Amino acid sequence: MTAPALPAAVAEALVARHGELAAISEPGPGVTRLFATPEHLKALERLRAWMDQAGMTTRVDAAGNLIGRWAADPAAGEAAKVLLVGSHHDTVRQGGRYDGAMGVLVAIACVEALAAAGTRLPYHLDVVCFSDEEGTRYGTSMMGSRALAGGFDEAVLDWPDADGVTMRDAMTAAGFEPDAIADCRYDPARLLGYVEAHIEQGPVLEAENLPVGVVTAIAVGSRHRLTVTGTAGHAGTVPMDRRRDALAAAAEMILAGEAVAAAGDGVVATTGKLEVAPGAINVIPGAVTFTVDLRAPDETRHDDAHAALVTALDAIASRRGVRVQMERIYRSAGCVMDPGLRAALARAVAEAGYPVRELFSGAGHDALSLHQVAPVGMLFVRCKDGVSHNPAEEVAAGDLVTAGEVLLSFLADFAPPTTG
Ligand code: GLV
Ligand code: MN
Ligand code: MN
Repeated sequence: MTAPALPAAVAEALVARHGELAAISEPGPGVTRLFATPEHLKALERLRAWMDQAGMTTRVDAAGNLIGRWAADPAAGEAAKVLLVGSHHDTVRQGGRYDGAMGVLVAIACVEALAAAGTRLPYHLDVVCFSDEEGTRYGTSMMGSRALAGGFDEAVLDWPDADGVTMRDAMTAAGFEPDAIADCRYDPARLLGYVEAHIEQGPVLEAENLPVGVVTAIAVGSRHRLTVTGTAGHAGTVPMDRRRDALAAAAEMILAGEAVAAAGDGVVATTGKLEVAPGAINVIPGAVTFTVDLRAPDETRHDDAHAALVTALDAIASRRGVRVQMERIYRSAGCVMDPGLRAALARAVAEAGYPVRELFSGAGHDALSLHQVAPVGMLFVRCKDGVSHNPAEEVAAGDLVTAGEVLLSFLADFAPPTTG
């Protein structure tokens, strides 16, 4: 059997829509589209229109996820189960146009191709656009998919964003329903799985001249907020050996994170955010808050790196006479992709005429939430120079179409288990 082709108009729209969606952004370089903002609502409106046009039944749930259903063949009956396919609309600050958006647009293109061929599947296909995967606005991650999986931590509703707006207030202002998030949950007994197409965000596929690859597993990770407290003072009068400079201490701590990661096998540590108080040119910094994002291929390597980092931070703090507090704001145990979905995606890649390349994901994805309740599988798509979380993120038009065709082939072939 040869892989199904996307109709020309569907392929053209798939490519063009990345540009249309990217235009829905806060001003500035790249794409900045955050949870529960006017940009979020505008993106949902646009995506919903495309889903409606394709013939899906659409809804926005209490957590701000957009869901479009391509209903099962009536022959599947009342007992028809649900396969979720999709990704997220939200971005990092000044991110690219493919991270997240591509997985949603490719899934919509597949439904358009099914509709054009008059094909109904033996299962409900729910195309999901998750409301928040990156955690850019509130620091935590994957709130949208956690709501679907029933793993949403309601305590985060009281967290403020950088402007002091709590998540609860932001959601209410956007028209979402923070007090009804429990209703977003899918009954795991009705779920067949979750499948996502996502840009690789790394260099492997490009180096091997392959448009797509099949994901094996996602890294273990944690995110932390650190506060270093020293003593603010006059930049001109306090001698160097009498200072308790919070920023100098934080700088050394960040480098310690880098050294700990470099000493680990496959461990990465990143500080992406830092605030200095009081923040004046002639004042010794009295307090600094910064973040650490720590990831590793498995629990042991993650936990060993974390322990080494804590030891290093304590040593730096005591030598410099400052205080350091480390608060964990997110933790993910990683996940392994379902062998059945992995094999089915591999079959679809081979059918499209490409060697099957399996690869590991250092990036987090919504599959991390959904694997708690359903089998998960992921398809990676080549990106230029491995660049992501950057306005320069780029995926070739031909690779978008290949991703759509591989996913379509997977969906057309996917058969729900006959029992259970
Ligand atoms: C999501 O993009 C992440 O891995 O941080
Ligand atoms: Mn991302
Ligand atoms: Mn992503």
